[in-house]
Amino acid sequence: MATVVVLNGPNLNLLGVRDPQVYGSATLADVETLCREVAGRHGLEVEFRQTNHEGELIDAVHEVRESAAGVVVNAGAWTHTSVAVRDALETVVGPVVEVHISNVHAREPFRHHSYLSDIAAAVIVGCGIRGYGYAVEEVAARRA
Ligand code: DQA
Repeated sequence: MATVVVLNGPNLNLLGVRDPQVYGSATLADVETLCREVAGRHGLEVEFRQTNHEGELIDAVHEVRESAAGVVVNAGAWTHTSVAVRDALETVVGPVVEVHISNVHAREPFRHHSYLSDIAAAVIVGCGIRGYGYAVEEVAARRA
């Protein structure tokens, strides 16, 4: 079965605990459940990962870059800092959808620039965890 790979970067393991006024009270487990529900409706499987180590995220991208039906990525703070994560994601064959739970454009100026947006097929910001569901929908839509 085709697989949507959902990758999460640093501190997203603390979803539900960290800054709930910014990120909400849902946990990363809730995000995973949502992604699996949406993907299941489209006959897709989900591989769901989170890491606090930049090289691990890059290795994960390399592992799936050819096989994934699409990659949904919330790279957290690496979005704003990492050319290396960008370079890895640029090698993904399928669509890459960038997600941010918060509206990064309404926050501190250092969050306004993304190293990923111009290589992403789509960008979803400020929709809370629903953005992950929309991102999985977008991967499915691009396969149809
Ligand atoms: C985030 C926004 C980033 O600026 C921040 O560093 C995160 C989460 C979001 O989902 O809103 O860790 O990617």
